[in-house]
Amino acid sequence: MFILQAAPEIHPFAKTGGLGDVVGGVVRPLAELGLQSATIMPLYRRVRESRPALARAAEFEVTVGEKTRTAVIWKGVYPGTQVPAYFVEEDSLFDREGLYGGLKGDYADNAERYVFFSRAVLDAIPALNLPVDVLHVHDWQTALIPVYLKTIYAQSPAHSRIRSLLTIHNMGYQGLFWHWDWSLTGLDWSLFNWKQLEFWGKLNFLKGGLIFADFLSTVSPRYAKEIQTEEFGCALEGVLRDRAKELVGILNGVDTAEWNPATDRQIPARYSAADLKGKAVCRAWLRKKMGLPECAAPLFCVVSRLVEQKGIDLLAAVMGDFVASESQLIVLGTGEDALQRALVDAARRWPSHVAVEIGFNTGLSHEVMAGSDAVLMPSRYEPCGLTQLYGQLYGTVPVVRRTGGLADSVQDGVTGILFGEATVASLTAAIRKTVETWRRPAEWNRMVLNGMKQDWSWARSAREYAALYARLAGAAGKTA
Ligand code: ADP
Ligand code: GLC
Repeated sequence: MFILQAAPEIHPFAKTGGLGDVVGGVVRPLAELGLQSATIMPLYRRVRESRPALARAAEFEVTVGEKTRTAVIWKGVYPGTQVPAYFVEEDSLFDREGLYGGLKGDYADNAERYVFFSRAVLDAIPALNLPVDVLHVHDWQTALIPVYLKTIYAQSPAHSRIRSLLTIHNMGYQGLFWHWDWSLTGLDWSLFNWKQLEFWGKLNFLKGGLIFADFLSTVSPRYAKEIQTEEFGCALEGVLRDRAKELVGILNGVDTAEWNPATDRQIPARYSAADLKGKAVCRAWLRKKMGLPECAAPLFCVVSRLVEQKGIDLLAAVMGDFVASESQLIVLGTGEDALQRALVDAARRWPSHVAVEIGFNTGLSHEVMAGSDAVLMPSRYEPCGLTQLYGQLYGTVPVVRRTGGLADSVQDGVTGILFGEATVASLTAAIRKTVETWRRPAEWNRMVLNGMKQDWSWARSAREYAALYARLAGAAGKTA
C-alpha cells in the first residue's frame, strides 16, 4: 500500500502551526508500521532556507484556468527516514516571505496558488510514477484534490483507483473565494451549486473536499462530533452530518524525537519524571531571559497563534489577575494586531508579572515550555491542540478549556485543570485555582508526574491512520 500525503505545510520544512507538525509527525511512525509513503508540499522560500538536499525529479505544465504554469518537482527525504519528500516549485507563486500571507493579510492569489498546487500534485503522480493507493490531503488548500479525482482525473488510468482521505484540522479556515475564481479551477460550472462547491455565492474549497473525499477525518474524536453541530460546524455542519458515517476523529500525537525534555537540545538543562532538577534550571533561566524576577508563585505560559479561536482576547482581559494572584505569565505568539498590542501593553504596565515575545520562534517555544509551570489554553474551540500535549510531557500543567481535543487529552485534576466557559470569569477562576493548587506541592507534583508519564507518541495515531488507509485501499481493490 502506498500513501501520498499532500499538505500546504510540513514540519521541519515549513510550518505556521499544528498542521505542519501533524503531517510531519506521522511520517516516521507510518514507515515503522511498514507502510510505503511520500509527502508533497509547495517549495516555499522558507523550505529553501532550511536547505534540504534536493534533486530535480520532474517538470511539466499545469493548467490553471486559461493559463499553463510550469511545475518543477524536487525530491528529498523526510529527515531521519528514507521516505521521499517532494516539493513543487513555482517561484512566482511560492517564493515569498510567508506561506499564506504577509503583513497585509492573506495573499490575494491564494485560490490560484492552491489550485496550481493541487493539480501539480495530481500531475506529479504519473510523472513520478508513484503507485498511489491513498491520497491523504489536509485542510482547504488541498481540498480540491478529492474533487479533481472524481471529475477531471476520474478516467485517467494513473488516478482512477486512488482513494482520498481529507483531514480537517480546523473548520474555521475554509478557503472561501469570490465566484470569479471558479474559472481557475477548470471544473465544470455545474458543480457551482449549493449542494457542492458553492457557499453563499462564493467558491468554498473545503466544502468541495468534504463532499468529494472518499473519507474524512479530523484531529480528535470530540471535534469530529462537535463539527456536526451549529456551534462548531462553521455553517458546514449539515454537510458533515450527511457524511457522519465516513467521518472519524483521530487524536494527534507528539514527535517525541523533538519534544522530550530528557533529550531536548533546545533547552538549557534536560530532565525527566525521575529527576526534575533540570526543570528548575530551565525555569530560572527562562525568567532571566524574559526579564522576570524570581517569584514564589507559578509561571504560566501561552505559546499560540494570537487569534480569537485561541481565546487570546479573554487572556488580554485578565492580565491584571497575574498581578493580583502574584503569579507570572510569558506569552510567545504572533497574530492579530490588536491582540498583540494589548499583550505588549500589559507587559509594559506590569513588567514583573508579564513578559511578551511577539514572533514565531521554535527554539524559544521549547525553552518556554520547559521553564514554565503551567500552560494556558483558553480556546473558544480547539480541533486538537498540541501545546497541551507538549505541556504534559514537559511537566508544565495544562490549564485548558473543556472543548475539542483539549477535553479529549487533559484529565481534570489528574493531568491538568479544565474550565468550562470561554468567559473572563471562567478563565479567572481557572487561573486562581491553578495558583492555589500550585501551593499544595504534593497535589501539584502528582499532576506534573501524571502528565510526564502519558504516552503521546505518534505510534498510536499512526496505527489508526494505517487502519483507515487499509480500509480505503481495500475498498478500492473491490471496485477495481
Ligand atoms: P494551531 O495549529 O491551531 O496553531 P496547535 O496547538 O495544534 O495549534 O499547534 C501549534 C504549533 O505551533 C505548536 O507546535 C506550537 O508550539 C507552535 N507555535 C505556535 N505559536 C508559536 C510561536 N509563536 N513560536 C513558535 N512556535 C509556535
Ligand atoms: C489546527 C487546530 C489545532 C490542531 C492542528 C493540528 O491548526 O487549530 O487544534 O492541533 O490543526 O491538527
